[in-house]
Amino acid sequence: MASTKFQTARVSPGNVTTKLLVVGVFKNEFPAGISAALNSRCNGVLAAQANEEGFSGAKNSTMVVFTHNKIGARRVLLFGLGDRAEFDVTVLRSAVTAAFKAAKSLKVNELTVSALDLDGSGVSAETFGETVATYVGLVNYTINHFKTAKGGHKADQGLSSVRVVCGSKHEADIQRGLHAGTVIASAQNNARNLVNLPPSICTATYLAEHALELGTRLNGALAVTVLEKADCEKLGMGAFLGVNRGSDQPPKLIVIKYTPADAVPGKVLGLVGKSVTFDTGGLDIKGADGMRTMKCDMAGGAAVLSAMGAIAALKLPVSVIAVMAATDNAISGKSFLPGDVLISMNGRSIEVDNTDAEGRLTLADAIEYIKLLGATHIVDLATLTGAVLATCADVGAGLFGNNSAWSDKVMAAADSVGEFAWKMPMWDELRDANKCQMADLKNSGASFGGAGSSSAALFLSEFAETTPWVHLDIAGTAYRKRHFQADPDGGTGWGLRTIVALTRQFASAK
Ligand code: BES
Ligand code: MN
Ligand code: ZN
Repeated sequence: MASTKFQTARVSPGNVTTKLLVVGVFKNEFPAGISAALNSRCNGVLAAQANEEGFSGAKNSTMVVFTHNKIGARRVLLFGLGDRAEFDVTVLRSAVTAAFKAAKSLKVNELTVSALDLDGSGVSAETFGETVATYVGLVNYTINHFKTAKGGHKADQGLSSVRVVCGSKHEADIQRGLHAGTVIASAQNNARNLVNLPPSICTATYLAEHALELGTRLNGALAVTVLEKADCEKLGMGAFLGVNRGSDQPPKLIVIKYTPADAVPGKVLGLVGKSVTFDTGGLDIKGADGMRTMKCDMAGGAAVLSAMGAIAALKLPVSVIAVMAATDNAISGKSFLPGDVLISMNGRSIEVDNTDAEGRLTLADAIEYIKLLGATHIVDLATLTGAVLATCADVGAGLFGNNSAWSDKVMAAADSVGEFAWKMPMWDELRDANKCQMADLKNSGASFGGAGSSSAALFLSEFAETTPWVHLDIAGTAYRKRHFQADPDGGTGWGLRTIVALTRQFASAK
């Protein structure tokens, strides 16, 4: 689906010609201001219908009124902002999401949003614009990649254009916000697309080509390099290559660098994304139910790759490097075996206690490599353990780290964009779960009868060592198997907005 075009116009809401006029109202303040003017132009029908339906402007409520051509808008969609005293960006985000979901169900291809008067609310006009464009983009995402006309599929028109009507005072700020929101939503939708692609299409080679194309599209703002199997062998990436052994698909180590001239000095943000393009479990094979969604096992990589595009498009003044160790975890006569010992790039010997604990093997070498490239602060996103669902379900990510200040920054970034993350245990006592008789480490983390997400994180910490590092376990949030607030099932692009927020604040972070 083509992305929505945004523009601003200095027209009063009552005079705008549109199929749908979207107007936010605070609780128990309707009709007032813009909504009062519209109500009187429509002979009081807005207030009468609100009275009939009990619409008071409660948060996330909506009401659609047909205007019978009393004004230029065919219909008005009022959406509730809740109590004015409790209003903030979180409220705005969920209110506009509810509004755009309601608008989507009306199947209009064009709509107009009336800018809110947010002076004194703590939410800037720029944030308003960014929120509008972000959630228009996210709400309008559909998964119908493979529907054909033969199956009765009609091309989805979607929402092709959105206008924001505003006064001159905030127009430039709103435009800036609309631009940023467009970039962020299209990057998140790109991450969702990569996850939703069939796994036989989205191979390591496909991800590498996608990264190279992104580099080309951004005219040199990103430097993309792809290391081949022989390069990885030379670097000694025995852990990553062990996972690839059973595959007919070549492994790819994808490196994306963004080094703007105005970057804050001395700090390089390192992003690592788990990029297992399909996880069969290896010879410790998964059951059918567990394997069904394992095309999502590259969701961390998809988020990281797409975020690099957004960071470059937004020209954020921070040096950022992304590393994706891409392979599938396949089964064949060449597969790595339970009991094999792999040697990682940083020289650790790892006994393979379970071939299904492959993610930490790929990440071990990716983390070591990003340190070699000069990352001073690392975040990895990985669909690492089913165990994280026991605590966080599909609602939030488990957050693990080796540096509490850095963990707090990542947590704050996630919070600021409405992606939930929660700090999980990294107790030293749990490290014993990775101990092994014959090698330095074993990969399964088994023997504690629980805390499987923590032992996986503690395994990774052996590779992060003293570099500030956060691991986000997105096994629950990356892919939804149930409808969530009317979002489609499938890839969520979780983490994209957190990475962008983190990069924005990284320049000023200690
Ligand atoms: N990719 C899976 C984790 C996963 C599970 C992601 C559910 C998304 C949804 C990972 O590679 C895996 O198989 N982990 C094992 C680890 C175990 C063998 C120590 C798990 O969670 O069972
Ligand atoms: Mn696995
Ligand atoms: Zn996996």
